[in-house]
Parts: sequence; structure tokens; C-alpha cells
Amino acid sequence: MAEIVNVKVGDAPYDVVVEPGLLARVGGDLVSRLGCRGVGVVLDRSIETSVWPVVEASFPPRFSFYRYVLPSGEGNKSLDRVREAYDVFLNARIDRGTPIIALGGGVTGDLAGFVAATVLRGVPLVQIPTTLLAMVDSSVGGKVGVNHGSFKNMVGAFKQPEVVYCDPTVLRSLPQREFCNGLAECIKHAIIRDAPLLAELEENLPRLLDRDIDYLTTFIGRNVATKARVVQSDVFERGERAHLNLGHTFGHAIETVSQHEYAHGEAVSLGICAAAHVAARLGALDEADRRRIVALLGRAGLPTTGLDLDETVLYSAMLHDKKASGGGLKIVIPQGLGAATVREDVSRDLILEAINSLRSE
Ligand code: GLY
Repeated sequence: MAEIVNVKVGDAPYDVVVEPGLLARVGGDLVSRLGCRGVGVVLDRSIETSVWPVVEASFPPRFSFYRYVLPSGEGNKSLDRVREAYDVFLNARIDRGTPIIALGGGVTGDLAGFVAATVLRGVPLVQIPTTLLAMVDSSVGGKVGVNHGSFKNMVGAFKQPEVVYCDPTVLRSLPQREFCNGLAECIKHAIIRDAPLLAELEENLPRLLDRDIDYLTTFIGRNVATKARVVQSDVFERGERAHLNLGHTFGHAIETVSQHEYAHGEAVSLGICAAAHVAARLGALDEADRRRIVALLGRAGLPTTGLDLDETVLYSAMLHDKKASGGGLKIVIPQGLGAATVREDVSRDLILEAINSLRSE
């Protein structure tokens, strides 16, 4: 059983293929799509001995690989690591037709995508995400980049992949914390565009947490389709794509100020709770629906309370986020369930109140 979502961006639509066991035949498929004889690979070190051998074996004999192994962790999403990758690929004398494969989670995909967007002024990019978060979110839509000092994702580009390959069976061995991180983005998709998915998640969360592969395949396909619809309508985030940032302005500040003690999905979970608090106070969300959102995030193993960071420090960090415009904050909030809106008129007091609401329910 496979799910294929065609992402229709500009004049270069691409497929996101979701299929159990796909990694064992990804090389053959890639060669027949792109007609290449060698690839650059940016590979997350944590899967070098588990996933990479499967992918490598799927390519034809005598195929050339130019590998850059990226140490794991958000701290490595940096220009220093980008330079190391440039060294590998330029010393190997890749040309403009040599694709770069991103094999790993969100950090790998973002960094590899940035390298592909910039080396030789751009080479083709292939995303092979190996975490739930990367499958449903970061590998689709073309946002790539790195952090700069304490500024998260502040250096980057839009670089759409040629194809995205998702094999849900790799999620079986994903640590629980990583898996739950991805669920935060899925719950976000449900809140902003797919209210029935919220009800389905409430019912079927145990199947996901058990890593039921058939169900995961359908579920990943549905999330990718939701994200694709939003991206297609606003590729460069001039309007509705910003809805995908629900929880992220609060979340990025929480990640930065906690020095990544909170993983991305965990920080986004708290950020969604804060945004739901703002929405409820502004009359955009029923209190019962706010409670539903918070309860689902909690059942998905994500934090919804217990924040212990200074609210004024967080507020300053939010002002540095690139989603702030002209010194003012843009806050995405749910507009009922299944829709969202961007508000630029949320007062500092209400933002501080929303942060403080994360200390205890
Ligand atoms: N992750 C948000 C976006 O792709 O726009």
C-alpha cells in the first residue's frame, strides 16, 4: 500500500511517496527519475549504521556516493557544518546535475536543502526523511536553512525537492520522544485545516503510538496532503502559509531560551497551548475546544504545562523571531477548529498571560 501526494508548486511539481519498505528500492526509483550516476548525501550520523546501508544497497552497482555525515542535534544546524559539507561535495567535483540526498530528520533535511540550494548555485535535492516530523512537515514545502547564533532558521532559502521518499517502517525504531515531536506538527495540521483529523486523532492515537504501519502510512499521506494544499496556495509565505507557524513564534522562543532543552515539537506543543489561550481570550476559540486541543497534545506525550522560563525573556526572544514584522508580533491563532488566522494586534499583556498559562493548567 502506497500513498503518493503530488505537490503542485510552480512549474516543478513533485511527488511525496509514502510506502512501507520503500527504502529498499529508493535508489532504483531515484536513478530512473533523475538519471544520475552519482549523488551527494547528507546523512545523520545516528542512522549511519542502521538506515544508510539499506539505502546504499538500493542503488545500482558502481554508483558513486559523496557522503557528508552530519553529527546529530539542532546545534549542528550551522554554517560551520554547511562549510564542511561544501568541502566534501566540491572536493568530489560534483556538477550541477548531481543531486544531494538528505537522509535523516528535520535538522538534516534543512541543512542538506540549504547546501543543495547554494552549492554551485543550486543542485537537485532529494528528501528521504527518517523521522515523523520530517515526513509530515519539514521535508515538504521547500523551507531550508540553518540557525545563526541564537537566531533559529534565520539563514535559508526556498528549495523544493525533486521527490520525497517516506518509509514509515523506519519509524518503528524512532525514540518515543522523537515520535511525539512529530505528532505536534500533525495536531497542528488538524487544528489549522482538518478538524475531522482532530477527532480521528482522538480516537486513533493509540494506533499511532503503537506505530501501526498501515495506519501510519495513511496518516502521513493525509498530513502531507494538508501541508501541500497550504504550501501550493502560498509558496513563499506571503499569506496563508503563515498558518503553518501556529505555535512556532512561542515555540521558537522556548527552544532558544531553554537552549534546546525542549525539542522542536515539545516547544511547538507549548506554543500551540499558548496560541489557543490567546484565541480563547479573543473569542476566536471556544473554551471547550481549547481544552480539547490541550488534552490531545498531552495524550500525545507532549508538554502542555510545567514551563519554567522567564516570560519577559521569552517575549524578547519572540520579538527576534523572523515572523515578527517591524517590531510587532504576528501571532497565529486557531479560528475555531480547522481554521487559523494571523493576528498583529495581540497585546504584550495577553502574550505574557498566555506564557504564564503554561506554568500549570
Ligand atoms: N514548517 C512550516 C512551513 O513549511 O511553512
